[in-house]
Amino acid sequence: MQLPSQITDNHGRPINYLRLAVTDRCNLRCFYCMPEEGIKYLPKKHLLSYEEMERLIRLLAKMGINKIRITGGEPFLRRDLIDFMQTISEIDGIQELNITTNGVLTEQYIPRMIAMGVKAVNLSLDTLDKERFKTITRRDEFDKVMHCLNALIESGMRTKINMVVMAGQNTEDIIPLAKLTENAPVDVRYIEEMPFNGEGLRNTEFTWNYRQILSTLTQQYPDIEQLVSKPNSTSTNYQVPGHQGTLGIIAAFTRNFCGSCNRIRITAQGTLKTCLYDNGVLDIKQLMRAGAKDEELAKALLGAFNSRAKDGYEAEKRRKNNSPVTESMSTIGG
Ligand code: GTP
Ligand code: 5AD
Ligand code: SF4
Repeated sequence: MQLPSQITDNHGRPINYLRLAVTDRCNLRCFYCMPEEGIKYLPKKHLLSYEEMERLIRLLAKMGINKIRITGGEPFLRRDLIDFMQTISEIDGIQELNITTNGVLTEQYIPRMIAMGVKAVNLSLDTLDKERFKTITRRDEFDKVMHCLNALIESGMRTKINMVVMAGQNTEDIIPLAKLTENAPVDVRYIEEMPFNGEGLRNTEFTWNYRQILSTLTQQYPDIEQLVSKPNSTSTNYQVPGHQGTLGIIAAFTRNFCGSCNRIRITAQGTLKTCLYDNGVLDIKQLMRAGAKDEELAKALLGAFNSRAKDGYEAEKRRKNNSPVTESMSTIGG
């Protein structure tokens, strides 16, 4: 079988970006991502091994995947992750390797990431207030994360800060975080809260969507300018004139960027997701462990890419047994 050198889905969208969750474990307990107690971590044998992940990436790279984002859980909790990153940074065809992390263990790896050519780190940080950080994450790690943020900025690594905007929790942090862009070249991105928290939609009086976030920003900065974003960007981006960094809004729950979606996901337990909102469309781990050859694997993957939902709403409708979206983001990687 001749492998295609590029993947295009059934809606004509090119796919070149893989988000790979390397663990479901986390050293924080952010309430928008998982419940405080009762999360059962997967036994190690249920996770894809590094060898299995490498094999998959080599195959996908031949089919045109050229960008990889490492996610989790907290990726740096997986032992020897940095060596695995080194290995995949050297795979032919992989042009961009990035990571999304909570910053608790990250600082020590910055020099090696720079040396292997990691272009950007996305840091999850929902508040600049130490007490609120503790309430949101249920852990007392604020100082380490801020230290990491400063180290990232000093290192010259491109840094995006991800803030999940939660009604009744941290909307007062929108402007303090925006102010960081004045003197530092960081990109602050405000993300609509999604129900991937282990329990489902939160029962709040208000929800915050991209419109309210934008209106908060424009009230503070009336001369804010919209930027031209990259074609597959999840965020709509802005800049306050004179500021070094940028501001972005990710309408992750409104889902207004599906038309240009170039992403697939592999969860920590080795399931393929062709949309964040589907509940898994192919058990790759099972296939691999049943002895599938590369050709069979490629065929199964291409079949899944060829029957992608057109957007996050369709993916949600197609979920098995109509199960609502409740899984924890720690198993998916965002
Ligand atoms: P860049 O490569 O820097 O653009 O990263 P990214 O925005 O793709 O990744 P990141 O891990 O920083 O994700 C930021 C937020 O966007 C998270 O809350 C993700 O869940 C959300 N997000 C990323 N990709 C998608 C997507 O395809 N659909 C939806 N609905 N949300 C997404
Ligand atoms: N809604 C929106 N974003 C979320 N993330 C984790 N859980 C949620 C959620 N329920 C974000 C994290 C991280 C990114 C990968 O996903 O903040 O930055
Ligand atoms: Fe892609 Fe699904 Fe996200 Fe839309 S909701 S951008 S289709 S992953």
